[in-house]
Amino acid sequence: MLSKRVSRLDASGIRKVFDLAGKLTNPVNLSIGQPDFEVPQAIQKRAIEAIKEGQNRYTVTQGIWQLRQAIGQRLDEEFGVAERNVLVTSGVSGGLVLAFLCLLDPGDEVIIPDPYFVMYKSLIELVGARAVLVDTYPDFRLHVEKISKAIRQRTRAIVVNSPSNPTGAVYGRAELEGLAELARQKELVVISDEIYNKFCYDEPYVSMAGMYERTLLLRGFSKTYGMTGWRLGYASGPAQLIEKMAMVQQYTFVCAPNMVQWAGITALETDISEQVEPYRRKRDLVYEGLSKAFEVRKPGGAFYIFPRAPKDDGEEFVRKAIEQNVLIIPGNVFSSRNSHFRVSYAASEELLRRGVEILCRLAG
Ligand SMILES: Cc1ncc(COP(=O)(O)O)c(C=O)c1O
Repeated sequence: MLSKRVSRLDASGIRKVFDLAGKLTNPVNLSIGQPDFEVPQAIQKRAIEAIKEGQNRYTVTQGIWQLRQAIGQRLDEEFGVAERNVLVTSGVSGGLVLAFLCLLDPGDEVIIPDPYFVMYKSLIELVGARAVLVDTYPDFRLHVEKISKAIRQRTRAIVVNSPSNPTGAVYGRAELEGLAELARQKELVVISDEIYNKFCYDEPYVSMAGMYERTLLLRGFSKTYGMTGWRLGYASGPAQLIEKMAMVQQYTFVCAPNMVQWAGITALETDISEQVEPYRRKRDLVYEGLSKAFEVRKPGGAFYIFPRAPKDDGEEFVRKAIEQNVLIIPGNVFSSRNSHFRVSYAASEELLRRGVEILCRLAG
């Protein structure tokens, strides 16, 4: 009954964790990929108003001009390029689907640094293309040399995700410039997933979009404003690509939710630094705690940390953690390796302390 395309899809890694988790009462849940703060009041209020004003129907597929203009203005301020092409999407996930559909033919290849956000590989394979993983262990940096070696005739694009899910790595200017130079030479598109750009703790955020003209920039509202369920994001990049993505959106998602687009304008005007600041502290707490018992890199952003598991067996360690009521995710969900595990620190400090203590104890 099912297509070959979907029969190859496998969600077993995460499913196993959640099957086990279903049996727990009140777990120390460090598996969640969304912030633990509420959507700021002003944004909530604007969404409710918009519903009451009757903003409940389809919008134009590319998104209401008021939101696109507000996004464009901010991008111009950040990158100094006028007339940006902006498409409002149903989250960054929506942008990824459209991007892969528009960029890839069956048999094409896309390079992704490993570990990677789970969706990339599955979506690339869904459109019949191949995800070429470039191993970045143990430092999780952007290894331009290795990426260069992975480029072949059918390579079309490279995905970068900084700050990264699951490692928290943040790429610096020099690394990104190296990649831009390579991509320019090989005429490749860089898909830059910047959904965690506001969660960057040690240095000003550097975007790929400011350095390379063939960058498809994807940003979202989900993580920044705690509105993961509202489904709002945007894409900006080469006109030809954005136009086609809009066309495909018309035949798939149609548009991002109307009332959410209006609230998105308010979100862009909302200072979120007070909500984000505690995450630096949480990062420090978790990093300092875990580094006593695990080999671990200090994450510079997002809200994840990716330590190495005892005996290089992430699945086994996660099973043990779950027996102790702590929920974490095995590294092989995000990687071809099973040597690590992901901890999300989007949780209260009290919960983080408990979780870190249990994990350290388990490490022996
Ligand atoms: C790296 C990365 N990209 C994209 C997404 C999807 O975000 P959205 O809610 O905007 O679809 C996530 C969500 O976890 C993510 O971690």
